[in-house]
Amino acid sequence: MSPSPSAATVEFDHVSKRYPGATEPAIRELTFEVPAGEVCILIGPSGCGKTTAMRLVNRMTDLTSGDVRVDGVSVMDRPPAELRRSMGYAIQQIGLFPHLTVADNIATVPKLLGWDAARIRSRTAELLELVGLEPSMGTRYPAQLSGGQRQRIGVARALAADPPLLLMDEPFGAIDPITRGRLQEEFRKLQQDLGKTVIFVTHDIDEALKLGDHIAVMKPGGVLAQYATPEELVRSPADEFVEEFVGVDRMVARLEWLLAVRRQGQEQDA
Ligand SMILES: Nc1ncnc2c1ncn2[C@@H]1O[C@H](COP(=O)(O)OP(=O)(O)O)[C@@H](O)[C@H]1O
Ligand SMILES: [Mg+2]
Repeated sequence: MSPSPSAATVEFDHVSKRYPGATEPAIRELTFEVPAGEVCILIGPSGCGKTTAMRLVNRMTDLTSGDVRVDGVSVMDRPPAELRRSMGYAIQQIGLFPHLTVADNIATVPKLLGWDAARIRSRTAELLELVGLEPSMGTRYPAQLSGGQRQRIGVARALAADPPLLLMDEPFGAIDPITRGRLQEEFRKLQQDLGKTVIFVTHDIDEALKLGDHIAVMKPGGVLAQYATPEELVRSPADEFVEEFVGVDRMVARLEWLLAVRRQGQEQDA
């Protein structure tokens, strides 16, 4: 897919992170490059540093050594607030403001950027449609939505100011497997149209293989095990860890899927 003119290149260059007081680094010498317009999946077992790696990009966390560059510019040379407004950020816990309507949630960054009210209104309507929600949803509050709808709002909010780069930390993690499958499909279509650069954290290998242009497999200790296309990963895993991770996790994902299909069947039978 051709990158959109507004897509950004992201380079991880021997980047390490050690949290204050920790004896071991959370991330070690991470090096890989995400070309503009690609979806890069960060995957690995819990605690291997996926969220940390992502948060180094928008400086929710600061790196200890090495560098992260967006379009060739070190994130350390950019003020954190400005950097964050220039990127979309969607997280598993969604992080919607409960006291704001859906429309106001979506408009968070445009408001910070000082867009006028008319532009914000039309953008909000456009985004609701883009993520497949009725325009009337805009006046609701997050508590009045299903989990899947809230996830969509989270994605719409991340896209609001049309950022060249999206950071998504297990954005579909909290949803049931069937709705998740649907959102994954929609994400793929959306991404084909928008051509953004996306860094996407998951621990679900099926999700990674489905959505990624490149996949960075991380292992315990924050070490990069392999950076490859989905096909390369399945065909030639770099080591036993990757081989097992790709294999074992796929079985678990399939089992989850099967159980969900069965449950749905039972509900329909009942
Ligand atoms: N704010 C923090 N302070 C100290 N240690 C942290 C902090 N956030 C994460 N860690 C540690 O860094 C390691 C990587 O965590 P994280 O990036 O959240 O992994 P993942 O997202 O892959 O589950 C873990 O050992 C975790 O305990
Ligand atoms: Mg995480």
